[in-house]
Amino acid sequence: MLPVGVAAVRSTRARFHSFRRWNALQRRVRLFSWLLLDRDSAAELRSDTAQRALLDEHHRLTERIAEEDTRLGVHSAVLALTGRTVGGVGTGITYVALGLMLVAGWMPLAAGAGAVLAVQTAQTALTRFTDTAHLVYEHAMWVDDLLAFQERCRGLQPRRRELTAPRTVGTIELRNVTYSYPGKDSPALDGVSMTLRAGETVAFVGVNGSGKSTCSKVIAGLYDPEAGAVRWDGVVVAEMDAESVQARVSMVLQDPLHYPFSALANVTISRGTLTEAEPDKALEAVVASGADRVIAGLPGTWTTLLSKRFRGGEELSAGQWAKIAVARGLYKNAPVLLLDEPTASMDPKAEHAVYQAVLHDTRRPDRITVLISHRLASVVDCDRIYVFDNGRITESGSHQDLMELGGSYAEMFTLQAEGYQVRTGKEAS
Ligand SMILES: Nc1ncnc2c1ncn2[C@@H]1O[C@H](COP(=O)(O)OP(=O)(O)OP(=O)(O)O)[C@@H](O)[C@H]1O
Ligand SMILES: [Mg+2]
Repeated sequence: MLPVGVAAVRSTRARFHSFRRWNALQRRVRLFSWLLLDRDSAAELRSDTAQRALLDEHHRLTERIAEEDTRLGVHSAVLALTGRTVGGVGTGITYVALGLMLVAGWMPLAAGAGAVLAVQTAQTALTRFTDTAHLVYEHAMWVDDLLAFQERCRGLQPRRRELTAPRTVGTIELRNVTYSYPGKDSPALDGVSMTLRAGETVAFVGVNGSGKSTCSKVIAGLYDPEAGAVRWDGVVVAEMDAESVQARVSMVLQDPLHYPFSALANVTISRGTLTEAEPDKALEAVVASGADRVIAGLPGTWTTLLSKRFRGGEELSAGQWAKIAVARGLYKNAPVLLLDEPTASMDPKAEHAVYQAVLHDTRRPDRITVLISHRLASVVDCDRIYVFDNGRITESGSHQDLMELGGSYAEMFTLQAEGYQVRTGKEAS
């Protein structure tokens, strides 16, 4: 039975490792299937004439999966055959030896029959034993994998702590904050320090990839700094319960999520519920963001499903989605509001209205607002502007201060302002 058992164990190990390869391939296949079938990618795929290339890759991957299956099947069959052949030869030798002993008269016939019976009984018992041992071994490998996965997940769970975030936030202080994304050599934030006070609106500006969005996520407690600290009213954020911190922050992300829910739920989900809503507050939020007219134009107004994936669902334009996202952020009415290029896809009138609503929101005079924008005209009225470059703050101050400084902010601002002047000049001529 030993060769059969060894073959079974080796076959199990091969199946386990093959499954890992198979699974990675299967996930890639699913990615290509999704890209080829999803409505969001359809137009761009056609315009890039990329369908054929994606389909070919899909075929290539499915062929590799079939090859992997075949390889495993052949490998397992060869192992089983080898195990059984060696085992069979062993059993054969035993019977031949018994036969010879009987013929030579070394063993009485009754003892020979008893020996055959004993061999058969032992073989049945050993088969049962190796089958069970093999099953335990196979399951142990999967359980081991599951435990390692659970351990990894535990490290990624939001922090649970006794200490919760304050209801109102007086100051947010960043001291020498450094943050690197996993696997990256250079830090996305490198020794950033700033103090934000209740009632202030500050702006983050800077070139693409300079660290603005990362800094807003560090302020929001979504990322913990690897060096330095973020303090809310003197308490280190990394020591507070993560969910309680996030409950105090409204974030309008650069690329907001399009929830496949009703228009109402798309606004009210920011308070963490799909079943409760304060209609008057939701209305206030959509009026402030300009989404009221978007919702009024929908066939079922507030109850319209915002997803074309489902029958009767509606799709919005990028700017209309942006207005819904801003409304979602305002509806939460949290003491910290982080807006990451919220108006990049809005028309000029809508953009102006949003900034007026955010900068002059009387509902929360104590709010700390951080505004990230590439359109520098919209940050002119902010209390302070931080200029980011390569993960560092290179300039800070009011618009006036930075213009007088004549640094990169003044250069960027003048460049944008000149763009408008040139066009006006041409039109006049
Ligand atoms: N999820 C991520 N994983 C790894 N690296 C990231 C991730 N997000 C951003 N980065 C890197 O961190 C750096 C800062 O990115 P960040 O998104 O903060 O820039 P940004 O100033 O907001 O740029 P933009 O103006 O383009 O929005 C960049 O070099 C970027 O490549
Ligand atoms: Mg960004």
